[in-house]
Amino acid sequence: MLSASAPAKIILFGEHAVVYGQPALAVPVASLRATAQIDPAAQPEMLEVVLQDMQGEVLRPDTHPDHPIMTLIERTQERIGQVLTPVRIVLSSSIPIASGLGSGAAVSTAVARVLLQYANVQLSNADLNQIIYEVEKTYHGTPSGIDNTVIVYEQPVFFVRGAPLVVLRVAQPVHLVVADTGEAALTRVSVGDVRQLYEAEPERITPMLERIGQIGRAAREQLEQGRVAELGPLMDENHALLRELTVSSTALERLVAVAKGAGALGAKLSGGGRGGNMLALVTPDKGSVVAQALQNAGAKHVFQTTLTT
Ligand code: PMV
Repeated sequence: MLSASAPAKIILFGEHAVVYGQPALAVPVASLRATAQIDPAAQPEMLEVVLQDMQGEVLRPDTHPDHPIMTLIERTQERIGQVLTPVRIVLSSSIPIASGLGSGAAVSTAVARVLLQYANVQLSNADLNQIIYEVEKTYHGTPSGIDNTVIVYEQPVFFVRGAPLVVLRVAQPVHLVVADTGEAALTRVSVGDVRQLYEAEPERITPMLERIGQIGRAAREQLEQGRVAELGPLMDENHALLRELTVSSTALERLVAVAKGAGALGAKLSGGGRGGNMLALVTPDKGSVVAQALQNAGAKHVFQTTLTT
C-alpha cells in the first residue's frame, strides 16, 4: 500500500490583499494532515475515492464527475500521460474543512503525490503546484495560489502572486495559538465581496490593501531578524484592516478580543474570514492560558503550533 500526505496551512499576514498583488506570509502546519492511500482496485476500469472522514462517502467518475478530486486525478493523468485506473484511493484528513486551513489544497496534494508514486513518476514541486493550482480554481474561482504553494512546498513562504517563490527564514521560534470559530465560511464568497467593495470604492480600498502589503513586508523583516514580539502589533493592525474590508465576523471579533485579554501579543483572523480560524501570537509561557481562554469562549479545534527555522 502506497501512501502520501500533505499539511494544513495558516496565513500569518496578507490574506485578501494577496489577491491584488500584495505579499502574504503563510506557514505549513505539519501536525494536521491529509493522507491518501492507493490500492489497485478490485474491478478493472474502476476508479474509486473513499472519503474516510466523511461517513465513508465514495466518489466515482459516474456519480461525482465534477468533484475537485476527480478533476485532480484527470489533470494528474494528463500531466504524466498515463491512465492509472483501476485504482482505489482512501483519503483521510485531520484538517477541519472550510475553516481557512487549506484542507482542499492538502487533499489534492496528497492524492496527486500518491498517484505519482503509483505511476513511479517524479514531478518537481513547481509542476505539482501548477496542477494543484488548476484544481484550486474549481474550489475558489480566482485563488491567489498561496494555499497550494505553502502546502506543496511545505515551507514558510513570503508569497507574491505570479512571482518566484521566496522561502521565509524564521530566525527565532514563533509560538501561535490557532482557534476555529466553528463557523464554516466560503472563501469564494468573502473574496467576491472584497472584489465588489474594491470596484465600488477603489480610492478608499486601495490604500488599505497597500497598507496590508507594507505590514507583510515589515513582518517578514521582523521574522528574519528574530524580533518576534514586534509581530504582535502588526497582527493587530492587519486584523483591523481585514475588519474594515468586511471579512471579520462577530465570532472572530470575540475570539480575537479573548486572546488579547488572555495575554496574546497580537491576534487576527486567518484566511478568507467571516468565520473559520483566528490566530494569536503568544510567548511560550502564555500559550496554554490563551488556548484555554479561547476554548472557554467556545472556540473549536484550538491548537498550538511553533514556527522554527
Ligand atoms: O480561506 P483560505 O485559507 O483558503 O485563504 C484564502 C486566502 C485569500 O487571500 C482570502 C484568498 C486567496 O486566494 O489568496
